[in-house]
Amino acid sequence: MKYESQKVAKLYFIGALTLFLAQVLFGLLGGFLYVMPTGLPDFLPFSVIRMIHTNALVVWLLMGFFGCTYYLLPEETETELFSPALAKLQFWLFYIAAGAAVVGYLFGYYNGRSYLEQPLYIKVGIVVVALMFLFNCSMTLLKGRKTVISNILILGLWGIALFFLFAFYNPANVILDKMFWWWVVHLWVEGVWELVMASILAFLMIKLTGVDREVVEKWLYVIVGLALFTGILGTGHHYYWIGTPGYWQWIGSVFSALEILPFFAMVIFTFTMTYKGGRDHPNKAALLWSLGCSVIAFFGAGVWGFLHTLAPINYYTHGTQITAAHGHLAFYGAYAMVNLAMFTYAMPQLLNREPYNQVLNMWSFWIMTSGVVFMTAALTFAGVLQTHLQRVMGFTYMDAQAQLGLFYWMRLGGGVVTVTGVLLFIGSLLLPGSARKVR
Ligand code: HEM
Ligand code: HEM
Ligand SMILES: [Fe+2]
Repeated sequence: MKYESQKVAKLYFIGALTLFLAQVLFGLLGGFLYVMPTGLPDFLPFSVIRMIHTNALVVWLLMGFFGCTYYLLPEETETELFSPALAKLQFWLFYIAAGAAVVGYLFGYYNGRSYLEQPLYIKVGIVVVALMFLFNCSMTLLKGRKTVISNILILGLWGIALFFLFAFYNPANVILDKMFWWWVVHLWVEGVWELVMASILAFLMIKLTGVDREVVEKWLYVIVGLALFTGILGTGHHYYWIGTPGYWQWIGSVFSALEILPFFAMVIFTFTMTYKGGRDHPNKAALLWSLGCSVIAFFGAGVWGFLHTLAPINYYTHGTQITAAHGHLAFYGAYAMVNLAMFTYAMPQLLNREPYNQVLNMWSFWIMTSGVVFMTAALTFAGVLQTHLQRVMGFTYMDAQAQLGLFYWMRLGGGVVTVTGVLLFIGSLLLPGSARKVR
């Protein structure tokens, strides 16, 4: 770590980890209610638990991205951050807004638009936070060295803010409502977030493998080109049954099937760099997370996405547990893991503990990842059965659900393993005991 201002990242990483823990605990509670629908207090129905689970996910991932950016930008631009004080203020505003949103949810202040349930004043707060962040980063970029990595990263982050503006546009017409809802949700995870993911991985590859920047940059261009070429029109895979014209079934099927390409390219990229790179970097755990990220993202987003993305298949699987299986593995592989890779790389430096004991961290990688993979498998079986019973045999929704209990128990089991992995991960980075030398 060369620059003093990189230290603000620590605040973001720790904040993100607390929300990650909250996210999986609420997930566990939701998974428990699925198999034991016992009476919880009125203010905590399943819908609110689910909302806190998904919102906490998105907030900690964004908080992680902010931290990753503050960490890597000074090294890329070879200059201190424009204003570390503004970065700290921005953190607390964001963290407090997230907390206020959760308290509001418990008292019924939310609307029914999935992921965008936040009341108006929280949404305005989010925009203020985003503007503070973009101002700070853009000013840093302008005064420093401009690299492909930092340019693409900042482009992706501007894109995140820009598409969030559609959260304010909520037309009364249900078809238009859904159309624009996907401009936030889909164009985030299958568009601009991919730019952020690819540039963070590119940074990690340069640091961990020692491969020349020129080589990494060429890969980055290819990945970003593929992501935008396929992801933008790929939005069509959400326009099959919402009242939009029939040609979307063709556009959505063709372009979203191609969305597997950028994820495949990221696997080839990380493995080729690791193979070619001569550097024997001491932080093996960070490399493990980086490689794991590209692989699990390829399966979760690419393969599990492809599974249900063609219109004739989605006709049957739409909104079943297949969707939930895909949602879990994709979010985990692509965006949770890229953050965890960066935390694993940066935290030992930020806490002055390098080289540190990585055994616990690597265990957490295998335990957490096995947990999510197992949950995904259980949900996939549940989804296939649900699709058949409900959409082929004509069972009602609840009659089909009654057949799926075993798989929901398995999901809960996988969830317990996942939470164990998360606790180990947090311990491996934050507990003073992990400061032992490895080599
Ligand atoms: C990291 C990237 C991705 C993430 C985080 C992600 C996440 C999600 C989530 C959470 C949903 C459920 C949305 C909802 O209805 O509330 C969803 C739906 C869907 N995703 Fe992805 N996804 C990703 C990439 C992909 C890719 C690459 C494909 C295609 C190859 C794909 C295909 C689909 C389809 C077809 C649906 C609609 C499912 C339905 O009809 O119920 N996704 N995705
Ligand atoms: C402790 C482990 C976890 C458990 C037990 C769990 C459980 C659940 C439950 C019960 C739901 C609601 C499903 C429904 O409405 O039918 C859900 C939704 C969701 N969870 Fe988790 N979860 C866990 C961890 C995670 C992780 C690690 C991620 C991503 C990094 C994640 C991402 C999501 C997403 C994106 C949704 C919305 C899915 C959709 O709309 O289809 N969860 N989870
Ligand atoms: Fe999508």
